[in-house]
Order: sequence, then C-alpha cells, then structure tokens
Amino acid sequence: MTNRVTKAVLPVAGFGTRFLPATKSVPKEIMPLVDRPLVQYAIDEARAAGITEFIFVTSRGKSALEDYFDSAPELEKALHDGKKHHLIEALKQTDMDSGAVAYIRQQERRGLGHAVWCARRLIGDEPFAVILPDDVIDADKPCLQQMVEAYAEHGGNMVAAMEVEHSRVSSYGILDVKSESGASMKVQGMVEKPQPEDAPSDLAVIGRYILSPQILRNLDTMDSGAGGEIQLTDAIAAEIEKNDNVYAYRFQGRRFDCGSKSGYLQATVAFGMARDDLRPEFVEFLRSYLENDAPKPAIRAV
Ligand code: G1P
Repeated sequence: MTNRVTKAVLPVAGFGTRFLPATKSVPKEIMPLVDRPLVQYAIDEARAAGITEFIFVTSRGKSALEDYFDSAPELEKALHDGKKHHLIEALKQTDMDSGAVAYIRQQERRGLGHAVWCARRLIGDEPFAVILPDDVIDADKPCLQQMVEAYAEHGGNMVAAMEVEHSRVSSYGILDVKSESGASMKVQGMVEKPQPEDAPSDLAVIGRYILSPQILRNLDTMDSGAGGEIQLTDAIAAEIEKNDNVYAYRFQGRRFDCGSKSGYLQATVAFGMARDDLRPEFVEFLRSYLENDAPKPAIRAV
C-alpha cells in the first residue's frame, strides 16, 4: 500500500453551539479570521501537504460551505466590470478543481469517529488525512506537511500532538507515549477526554491526523466511548493493540483553538496583527485601549 496521502476528510457537521446565535445560520467553519473563513486555512494547509481531494462531512444547514467553494458568476462579473483585480485574485483561493471536493451528510451527530466513518466509501483502501478546521495552526512549514514528511518514514497512523495545561486534559484525546525519536513519538495508549487524575500525560491530540484505512474498519463496530459518542481516538487506540503502528508528532507551530471564543479572539488578534494593511491602526487601537484599562463598550456581546 502506498504511503502517499492525497485525500483529506474535514468533519464540519457540528452545531457550533459555543458561537450561537451566530452559528444559527452561519456554519462555524465560515466564520472569518480577519477576512478568511476558518475552513480556508485548513484547505491551504492541506494543499501544502499534497492533498488533492477534499471530503467534507457536513450536516443540514451547511450550504454556505458548499457555496463558498463554488463559482460565483455574478460576483465575479461585478468585480471584473469594476476592475477590482485584487478582489478577483482573493477569490481564487476558493477555486476547487472539478470533482476535487465532495460533501457527505452525517445524518445523525454521533461523534467524530462516526463523522470520519461516514466518508469511508470515498476514502477506499488508502491512507487519508483528517483535519479539524477549529484547530488553526500557524507554522512556517504547515503542520500537515510536517506530518506527511514524518509519516513517509514509518507509515502507520499519526496524530498531531502538543502539551496542554494539566487542568485542560479533559477537553482532549490524551497520549501515553512509549518512546521518542526527534519530533516523532511511539504511542502505547490514548484516551479520549480523561479526568486530570486519570490522564496518562498532558500530551494532547490536536486536530490533524494521518490514518490507515484500518481505522475505518475499527469504526465499523460503532462502539461508543467518552460522552456516549463514537470516538476517533478509540478507533486509533485499537490499532495500538492490533498493529502497534500509532505515532504522535510534536509539530512546530502555534495552535489556536478556534472552537472556543477565547481562542478565536486570540487568533483574530494574531492574524490581524500580521496583516501589513491593518497592523499600524490595530496596534494603535490596542495600545490606547489597554492604556485606558480596556473600557467596556455600552453595547455588549452578551
Ligand atoms: C476532538 C478529538 C480530541 C482532540 C480534539 C483536538 O475533540 O475528539 O481527541 O484532542 O478534537 O481539538 P473535540 O474538540 O471535537 O471535542
């Protein structure tokens, strides 16, 4: 079996309840960091890693996502007529090759493992990546590309990993590592959302995976785990028992948890600051805002 990874699954079926009411009609993945939707960062990272086929696992109410990766003839004509060439250029990042993107419905929300399993017929019998667009990772070399390079050496299954605060381990899949060699680690156990006192370490799985098709067969059992959901972590952990081929990769880069309001705000500040067109005014605003003890606006984001 080849080690080349050309397909990525992007599970995007969640309600995004932490961002209600906004996410009542706007999919969370379309929420922007400055002016690019979260999903665009995921697609760019995947492309840099050599991914050419994208499988979105969606749900009812996510049609904005499909429109985002479709052509928009009226808009394009208006920009063209107005000679807005830089905007036409900006739209190019949303272009998808014909047939390169597929949307699968997850009819019932039964967990991340179930969402990935829904894509099994399109994945077939080859290794595939999973990208959780909530985890935005800023890195000189995109995180998935770092992983693809490490994966080429040993195959198997690989998850992205980073240390988190001990008090936060119950929000993550947590790894039990047997040995380390550079950034790659051999994994001997993993557990989804343990209580801090039960966690084998503070090393958490972050939303990038390169998985063997065997994971899909492990998911066939539909066993439910933490929170009563079908967990991807459990299907990967089963491979430790069966084939002892699970690795974790300590990526270089800074991860923003855009599934949480605070992480999303942090990412907005960081990505806004990085923009030459915005930075001077933004720095000026933040400086005086903090000097004045962060005055609360009268209109609140409740
Ligand atoms: C999911 C995974 C978890 C992983 C996390 C990374 O959890 O189930 O193992 O650590 O993503 O963001 P979720 O954030 O969907 O609850």
